[in-house]
Amino acid sequence: MTTAAVRLPAGIAHPFAPAGRVDPYPAYTWLRAHDPVHRDPMTGMWLVTGYADCTALLKDPAFSAAAGQRERAREDDLPVSMLTSDGADHARLRAPGARLLGPAAMVQIADGVARDADALLERAGERDVLTDAVEQLGSPLATAVLARLFGLRDDQRAPFAQLARAASVNLDPLAPPPLARLGRAAMGELTRYLDAHTDQALPSPLRDFAADTRLTRQEMLGVLGLAVVGGWQPLAESIGNALYWLLPRPDVRAALALGTTDAAGTAMDELLRLEAPIPFTARVTVRDAELPGGRIPAGSRVLAVLAAANRDPAVFADPEQLRHDRSPNPHLAFGGGPHFCLAARLVRQSGALLLSRLVRTYPAAALTGPEPRWAATLIPRRLTSLGVDLNGTGTGTGTGTEAGRA
Ligand code: HEM
Repeated sequence: MTTAAVRLPAGIAHPFAPAGRVDPYPAYTWLRAHDPVHRDPMTGMWLVTGYADCTALLKDPAFSAAAGQRERAREDDLPVSMLTSDGADHARLRAPGARLLGPAAMVQIADGVARDADALLERAGERDVLTDAVEQLGSPLATAVLARLFGLRDDQRAPFAQLARAASVNLDPLAPPPLARLGRAAMGELTRYLDAHTDQALPSPLRDFAADTRLTRQEMLGVLGLAVVGGWQPLAESIGNALYWLLPRPDVRAALALGTTDAAGTAMDELLRLEAPIPFTARVTVRDAELPGGRIPAGSRVLAVLAAANRDPAVFADPEQLRHDRSPNPHLAFGGGPHFCLAARLVRQSGALLLSRLVRTYPAAALTGPEPRWAATLIPRRLTSLGVDLNGTGTGTGTGTEAGRA
């Protein structure tokens, strides 16, 4: 049981300090080894970094997602959604949400997303060198996936992407106040846009979802807004994060190019494990709670640090290494328990689809340009920019080893 105040040693940056935001892993590694259920003296919050503790927490109703999000939800005027509800309320919203984002929706949009990915790679090939792979591959992929889900026409994609980008500010709990204000305004605009769009959507999972009478209009808009804010940027950034790990590894590129669709999904899981775009998620304890690594009193603010759990050596052999065929891979990049990402399969398949097509079309693709840097934002975990030489003819920044990757 953790009672005495434990402090990070001097020399290890706090994960919310500027240096720690850029590289939180030394702090995560130390905390996981020394105090996996840690009361953080700097913020007063509990940081839970062990895998067993995070999985237990995510399943335990003593940890409320609704209370965890409530402060922010009220401040941000975000509509009610699955992430701001618990128990029966949550289940009521989630069941119809599956019509929008579940496996059947993926089947419905898979061919369209594959055509979009091919078109995207063909356009990328015209440049030869991508100065920012997230901007030039990740964001258009995320827009394509949401456009297919939401039944957007081609000419609606660019304005939609602009709104999604502006509303994504709401993901970052430490966004500076002026930016956070803009994010709130964008959220209102996005909700109005989705409200007007819903009635004219092309045949799509959105049309089926909107026809479901179990939700009120406001609830439906809440789920749509959550899909955009929780989905668009994390999906876009997951492509940059994945390329950062993947491109310096010719062996993995070759395996992905030759492998089956299932093998590409397995590799995508491993890439998400190593660099989870949503590194933690918030809860509040509604009563005293007991985790394998310690007790947390009622009324505590708690972060389940998914990115730390994903590198727990008790569960993952060689946790800092990319093993594209790691299986089973019970990573927590999509969370766990009742709030497990409703779009996990969609994300996994669309990411795998783009990456496997990329390495087949451009087998020598390599990182290029300045050494990639991690942004100081907390959510999503992302690179400030990532240069990619599609034909691998220039000087790459990749080392071909994991030396600089962890
Ligand atoms: C790489 C991309 C993504 C990652 C890493 C990710 C991760 C997550 C995580 C960690 C959660 C759980 C949050 C919690 O427990 O508090 C979650 C929930 C959710 N995600 Fe994703 N997500 C991604 C993309 C998407 C996309 C593209 C969509 C929709 C288009 C989406 C829709 C949702 C929804 C609706 C929930 C709430 C589920 C619930 O509360 O029952 N996500 N996601």
